[in-house]
Amino acid sequence: MTAPNAGREAFATRAGFILAAAGSAVGLGNMWRFSYQASEGGGAAFVLLYIAMTLLLGIPLMLAEFGIGRRGQRAPIGSLRLLAGRGWGRLGYVFVAAGLLILAYYSVIAGWTLRYALEAALHGFDRSAAEHFGEISSGGDAVAFHLGFMALTVLIVVAGVKGGIERGSLLMMPVLFLIVIGLAVWATTLPGAGAGYAVYLMPQFEELMNPAVWRAAVAQAFFSLSLGMGGMLTFASYLHRDQNLPESATVVAYTDFGVAFIAGLVVFPVIYSLGLQGAVGASTVGALFIALPGAFEAMGAAGRVVGLFFFIALALGALTSAISLLEVVTASVMEEMHVSRRRAAVVTGAAIAALGVLPALDTDTLGLMDKIAGEFLLVAGALALAILAGWRLTGEVREELLAGAAPFWQRQVPRILFVLRWIVPPVVAVVLAFSLRETVATVADYFAG
Ligand code: TRP
Repeated sequence: MTAPNAGREAFATRAGFILAAAGSAVGLGNMWRFSYQASEGGGAAFVLLYIAMTLLLGIPLMLAEFGIGRRGQRAPIGSLRLLAGRGWGRLGYVFVAAGLLILAYYSVIAGWTLRYALEAALHGFDRSAAEHFGEISSGGDAVAFHLGFMALTVLIVVAGVKGGIERGSLLMMPVLFLIVIGLAVWATTLPGAGAGYAVYLMPQFEELMNPAVWRAAVAQAFFSLSLGMGGMLTFASYLHRDQNLPESATVVAYTDFGVAFIAGLVVFPVIYSLGLQGAVGASTVGALFIALPGAFEAMGAAGRVVGLFFFIALALGALTSAISLLEVVTASVMEEMHVSRRRAAVVTGAAIAALGVLPALDTDTLGLMDKIAGEFLLVAGALALAILAGWRLTGEVREELLAGAAPFWQRQVPRILFVLRWIVPPVVAVVLAFSLRETVATVADYFAG
C-alpha cells in the first residue's frame, strides 16, 4: 500500500529533516509578520491566540501534510493524484501556483534584508530610515537584491535534498538560533525596554472579541508554519518510515513559535526604548524595515553590530524558507515533466525571479500578492488538506503517523485524526469566509488605485 519510488532522494538524518522543516517554518513570517500582527492584535492576547491556533490547527495540519507526503513519496501533484485520484491531483497545481506567487514577493522582502545586512557591514544604517526604505524597497535596487537572493535559493535547491537543503539547514539554523537568543539577551540591557515588554506581554483581552484578530492569528499560523501549499508534504516525501512524524511536527511547531516569540523580545524593547513606536503602525513593514534600522542607527556603533547580526539572522531565515518554497515548484516540474533537478530548479527559479520583478517595482503589488497567495490560498489549501486527511485518506494517514512513532506519540494519533476530521474543517471554513471578504476588498482597493 505504500508507494515505492525507487531512487528517490531522501534526507540522510532525522535531525536533518527536522531542521529543514523548521528552516522552512522559521523565516520572515516570524519577524516581519509576527511582530506587526502582535502590535495590531492586542499584544499578548494575539500571542496567546496564536499559540492556541498553532497547537489546535497547526500541528494536526502539519501532520496531514507529513502523512500524505511520506505515503505518496512524490511532490504534491503526484502524491495527491496517486493517493486520492485525478481530481485531488489538480489541487497540487494550486499549491504550485501558491508557491510560485509567495516566493516571488518573499524574495523581494528577503532582498531588503540582504541589503540592510550589507549596509550595516559597510557603512551603518541610514539616518532617515523611512525615507531610505522608500528608496530601496522598490525600483532597480530592489530588483537587483531580489535577483541575487533568488540566485542563492536556486544554488541550494540545485544541490539536492541531502547536499543542498539538508546541509544548508544544518549549517544555517543553529547560527540563526544563536543570533536571535543573543539579541534577546542584549535587549534586556536597553534603558526603557520595560515599556516594550509591557506592550508585547500585557494582554488586551478585548481584542479577542474582534474576528479580524482571529482571522489574522490563523492565517499567521499557517504562513509561519509553511502550511497549506504542500511545502511540508514535499519535505516529508523525502522520508523513510522510521521518522517519528508526530514528534517531528511538535518540535517544528514549538521551534517556530519559539523563534517568533523571542524575536518579539528583541523587536519591542528596541523600538520602545528609542520611542520609535510611531513608525511601526505605518505599514506591515514599518516595524522591521523602518523602526528597527532607525533604532540601530540611533545606538551608534553598538547598534551597527547588533543590526548586522539581526539582518543576517533574518536573511538566513528567509533563505531556508525560500528553498522550501522553490522545492515544491521544482520537485513538481521534475516529476511531471521528467526533467533533471538542475534544469527544473533553474527554469522555475528564473520564472519566479521574473515574476518577482512586479512586487520589486511596487510595494502595493507585493501586499496584494501576500493577501491572495500568502493568506487566502493557504487557508483554502489548508481546508482541502484537512478534509483529505480527516475524511478521505484517514486510514493511510493513520498508518503513516503510527509508523516510526514511539508509544507516547502513537497514543496521540487518534486525537490528531479526530481534530483533523471534526475541528479543523469547520474552524478553517469560517476563517476562509472572512479571508475571502478581506481578499476581495484588498483586490478592489488595489484596482481602484
Ligand atoms: N514559513 C515561512 C516564514 O514564516 C514562509 C514559508 C516557507 C511558507 N514555505 C512556505 C509559507 C510555504 C507558506 C507556505 O517566513
